[in-house]
Amino acid sequence: MTGNRTFTMIKPDAVEDGHIGAILEKITAAGFKIVAMKYTQMSKRDAQEFYAIHKERPFFGELVEFMTRGPIVAAILEKDNAVEDFRALIGSTNPEEAAEGTIRKLYAKNIGENAVHGSDSDENAKIEGAFHFSGREVF
Ligand code: RTP
Ligand code: MG
Repeated sequence: MTGNRTFTMIKPDAVEDGHIGAILEKITAAGFKIVAMKYTQMSKRDAQEFYAIHKERPFFGELVEFMTRGPIVAAILEKDNAVEDFRALIGSTNPEEAAEGTIRKLYAKNIGENAVHGSDSDENAKIEGAFHFSGREVF
């Protein structure tokens, strides 16, 4: 039932650089419907919990610093095959490896500051959406 939803964040770098509008335009043009959205800032604790899967990785501290340094746009998106299609739309984690026309190719600076997040599975999409939104914020 939730197989057609994914969760995204427009990360602090892309917000700072004024790319919110352009990124949302690409997302909706690709056929995703926004079913929840907010402009918010994560606390250190939020980011540590959200990215807990990466806590042993060498870049974890940097990732938490980056994700908390300014506001983000968080959203839940709906489309057939949402998780996979959204990962294709954003491109590889490292923008140097991202395909032409993808959001990361266009707007990411490097592997750390890479403009957008996209859930990597239906299960994580559900967990991540619930992390940011209560039931009455999802339409
Ligand atoms: P995301 O979760 O944000 O959609 O990114 P992803 O699946 O493409 O990449 P993932 O492996 O889950 O990594 C999460 C985020 O950590 C930062 N990162 N930095 N410095 C580095 O080597 C490095 N590797 C990953 C990025 O912000 C990445 O999106
Ligand atoms: Mg990931």
